[in-house]
Amino acid sequence: MVFNCIFLGAPGSGKGTQAKRLQAQLNIPHISTGDMLRQEIAKGSDLGNRVKEIMAQGRLIDDQLMTEVIEKRFSASDIKTGFMLDGYPRTVNQAASLKSIIEKLSLQEPKTIYIKLGFDELKNRLLGRLSCSKCGSTFHVKLNPPKTSGICDACGSQLSQRKDDTEEAVVNRLKVFEKETAPLLDYYKQSKSLIEINGAQEMEKITADILRSLKA
Ligand code: AP5
Ligand code: MG
Repeated sequence: MVFNCIFLGAPGSGKGTQAKRLQAQLNIPHISTGDMLRQEIAKGSDLGNRVKEIMAQGRLIDDQLMTEVIEKRFSASDIKTGFMLDGYPRTVNQAASLKSIIEKLSLQEPKTIYIKLGFDELKNRLLGRLSCSKCGSTFHVKLNPPKTSGICDACGSQLSQRKDDTEEAVVNRLKVFEKETAPLLDYYKQSKSLIEINGAQEMEKITADILRSLKA
């Protein structure tokens, strides 16, 4: 069975957390555009330098550039085993581009998993998040603390706060989500591929809900 899915949700809703948990169980690629861009910034590549400031402010990178990044990633053969998209598409334009890429490659239409969570909890999760810049794992100072303070459980690297997890950038990112990304909910409702998941539950319960929906 091939699982193709898109994780849709506001910043902090748990897209990355859930995709990482499912990757361990389903063994299919987790494609996080945010993680890919942060890796480019860490390498100091041209792409990284172009997006660094925009990301720190919590603004979106332009659609064409992001679609080029995804098109390149989709040219790898592992995509045929399934995929979990996290952070793309983020605008109606990007959703249209993804549809063409999927059609061109004759891939199965993805299910869209919308992880729903309220504004106050989103803010709380983002402001307390600790991230691993090496493997992309995320923790939370209170809600999901690492076993050893400041150290990643998965790879042993140092944890830090993401540059866009400051109060100012978080508020901006949540506004950008409402304006640019929330319209995708209607877009995917129309194609009947939208599955809503309650994000205000224990991580394990959310993973079980997503798995059930993917297998249905
Ligand atoms: P990206 O990296 O995609 O960030 P985001 O969408 O803002 O989402 P986050 O990664 O902040 O949240 P998440 O939903 O993954 O939550 P997490 O699982 O970590 O994008 C960053 C930037 O890159 C964008 O702002 C933009 O500039 C650029 N970009 C990327 N893609 C782009 C695109 N397609 N177009 C244009 N620009 C693009 O969880 C959050 C916290 O909550 C963690 O601390 C976690 O431990 C905790 N937590 C998770 N689940 C639970 C739970 N059930 N209970 C308690 N705590 C929980
Ligand atoms: Mg994430």
